[in-house]
Amino acid sequence: MSGKSSASAINSKTHVFQNIEVLAGGAAGYILSAMQETLAVQDRFAMMLSGGSTPRAVYTLLASSPYKQAVDWSQVHIFWGDERCVPPDHPDSNYRMAGEVLISKVDLPAENVHRIRGEIPPDQAAASYEIAISSYFGSETAFPHFDLILLGMGEDGHIASLFPGSPAINETARWVVAVDHDQPPPPLVSRVTVTLPVINAARRVALIVAGEAKASTVAATLTTPEKSLVLPVQRVNPVEGELVWLLDEAAAGQITN
Ligand code: 6PG
Repeated sequence: MSGKSSASAINSKTHVFQNIEVLAGGAAGYILSAMQETLAVQDRFAMMLSGGSTPRAVYTLLASSPYKQAVDWSQVHIFWGDERCVPPDHPDSNYRMAGEVLISKVDLPAENVHRIRGEIPPDQAAASYEIAISSYFGSETAFPHFDLILLGMGEDGHIASLFPGSPAINETARWVVAVDHDQPPPPLVSRVTVTLPVINAARRVALIVAGEAKASTVAATLTTPEKSLVLPVQRVNPVEGELVWLLDEAAAGQITN
């Protein structure tokens, strides 16, 4: 993965790229390496996609040469970290975005796509998605170990649909919860989201963050002593897995080495 690297204050690896296009290339390279490393020793790869707009360029690259041809997509299983409670063809649907730029472009078997059913009542969608994850990983596991979880971050430090002040941040047992969402950032619709124990059980977590508007939150997260963790993003700390920050220079603009 090209790009300047620097160790961050919370022992995660931080890669800074010139701009969002170069960041997308770095992220696609990281994802491909994780896939190849994993599929060399096991026969399937469970990747949890982030929603929002930042990853669109990453998914578009993954579906294009040379990344597309470098992966046996029949071995890849796609999940989501969260979903807006809208139909799958709604402009706000995270599933729709990934479907447009990635899933429809690669040879992914339909049974390998594990979407959150945003069109049904949120609590039912959460329960249904938890069953889908459990079916993939086996119900005997305390928490599922995704091979890679991609996360974006909001300016407020939210990740997935775990927003500051939400009780969902403190969930310790359930893998998936439904949350009301009637305050910015938009869209102001209920969400379904995985919980922090699921995120922190992953083998790899990649935070992909771009833009100057997020620079102060990125800097605060990478330099805040663990004891004062108040933002959801500050609670991302894989138990055994790897955490990497993939940033553009704008988002990294307030990090002091
Ligand atoms: C969502 C995402 C959310 C997103 C951040 C960053 O459903 O919106 O899961 O957590 O990653 O809000 O979004 P942008 O990439 O659009 O800034």
